[in-house]
Amino acid sequence: MQAEKFYTKKFRFYDKKTQNELIVVIPEVLDPNYGFYVWPCAPVLAQYVWFFREEIKGKHILELSAGTALPGIVAAKCNAASVTLSEHILTPNCLKHCVNCCANNGLENVSVIGITWGLFSPELLNLPPVDVILASDCFYDSKDFDDIFVTLSFIFEKNDKCEFWCTYQIRSTDKSIAYLLERWNFTCDHIPLESFEANGPSVAESNFPGNHTIEMLKISRKKT
Ligand SMILES: C[S@@+](CC[C@H](N)C(=O)[O-])C[C@H]1O[C@@H](n2cnc3c(N)ncnc32)[C@H](O)[C@@H]1O
Repeated sequence: MQAEKFYTKKFRFYDKKTQNELIVVIPEVLDPNYGFYVWPCAPVLAQYVWFFREEIKGKHILELSAGTALPGIVAAKCNAASVTLSEHILTPNCLKHCVNCCANNGLENVSVIGITWGLFSPELLNLPPVDVILASDCFYDSKDFDDIFVTLSFIFEKNDKCEFWCTYQIRSTDKSIAYLLERWNFTCDHIPLESFEANGPSVAESNFPGNHTIEMLKISRKKT
């Protein structure tokens, strides 16, 4: 059997005012599974977490379908009270890779669990309290959109003040989550990328998102 070949990608988050910096190194594997490499949405969401790190401090964070977990790792480095990373239950190697990405950044206390969209697994039912849910590039196949909202709604039922921070790549004008937000009783703010220094083609010095169009969305329950 051939050994897995890792390629590492470096991300540098920098605060011009305080001159603070954070370097995260992510190992990537050439594999057809989507969870083994960083997607263009991830540095944008990670930059949002970095830019608003004071808000993350002391919060309980869940990253859904984390893959290489760049946003979750930044949250853990920015003093979140706890970070839980999740991946599809049926991709054990992806779950393992998530653990590996954390270990590469000196993080041993991040828990990695299996959560599959739309599935009421014991991991989802027993989820500890959550303040912020992160998700980078989960809305790419419209057949899954409803299932993702089933999972989100369940978490919001138990954590009504929770917020959902998500990055979305515009791949086709045929796809939209607007009608689902309405159906599932959510409200959504579009956050301008320039408001958190993510409007260039190379966020966190990564050459990502390049020329891809990414939206930063902040979603919460509609107030009744
Ligand atoms: C486009 S990748 C994004 C990965 C990572 N969040 C990023 O932005 O770099 C989509 C992720 O969704 C996960 N995924 C696919 N189907 C899933 C499902 N049914 N339930 C949960 N996660 C799923 C994949 O394993 C993969 O990590």
